[in-house]
Amino acid sequence: MTRKYLVAGNWKMNGSLKANAELLSSIAAKTGEVAGVELLVCPTAVHLESVGKLLPAGVVLGAQNLSEQTKAGAFTGEILGSMLTELGVRYVLVGHSERRSLYGESDLRVAEKFKAAQAQNLVPVLCVGETLEERESDQTEGVLTRQLNAVIELCGIDSFANAVIAYEPVWAIGTGKTASPEQAQQAHAFIRGLLSKRNATIAGSIRLLYGGSVKPDNANELFACADIDGGLIGGASLKAADFLGIALAAQ
Ligand code: G3P
Repeated sequence: MTRKYLVAGNWKMNGSLKANAELLSSIAAKTGEVAGVELLVCPTAVHLESVGKLLPAGVVLGAQNLSEQTKAGAFTGEILGSMLTELGVRYVLVGHSERRSLYGESDLRVAEKFKAAQAQNLVPVLCVGETLEERESDQTEGVLTRQLNAVIELCGIDSFANAVIAYEPVWAIGTGKTASPEQAQQAHAFIRGLLSKRNATIAGSIRLLYGGSVKPDNANELFACADIDGGLIGGASLKAADFLGIALAAQ
């Protein structure tokens, strides 16, 4: 089963109209070098429209979050999935560890966001991963099982036919402590194996991204792993040369 590599930039709460325009212009100059890789950028919500208008050819637009609601209404501060698709958004991150830890998003709420995304024609990028404490106490597989099963129970295994999963060990996010290729491959193989027990076809076709201190100098080894189909990039996605350097590793 061939899976097209996806390299996604999670810009987090960064950027400005000027900085985003400069970043996209630098990316545009080099997208031809990575034609075989799907590039995705996820700016902050207020920048989606302006980024969407400046998106280089071959780069798709993603959001960092959405409401679990599927109808408009009195939900102050929330963003409805259909408001994202209006702006050309194709993918949406759900359950990023920062949403889980800083904003208290439970496994159930993440599953509800996953469901709301698909109900509004968005492709959810389901973020899962363990903390350092959980890894050191040998709970990694239990955490991944809990996080994945919450979505499977609410949405069904078939819903993963139109989704992406990002494995992001929390202890590797923003720390410079990238998971080793062996650690990342082991977690990815576990995720694919868990899905395969329910539907081998879906497990074989879903793209599993690694996230957590991916840089141009470690991307080659990570992307060479059998069950790693790309990356979800934070800090390095804010520098065009680094973001494209990572994408080159996926070629
Ligand atoms: O969503 C990607 C992000 O969490 C990884 O961040 O800065 O470690 O690449 P970073």
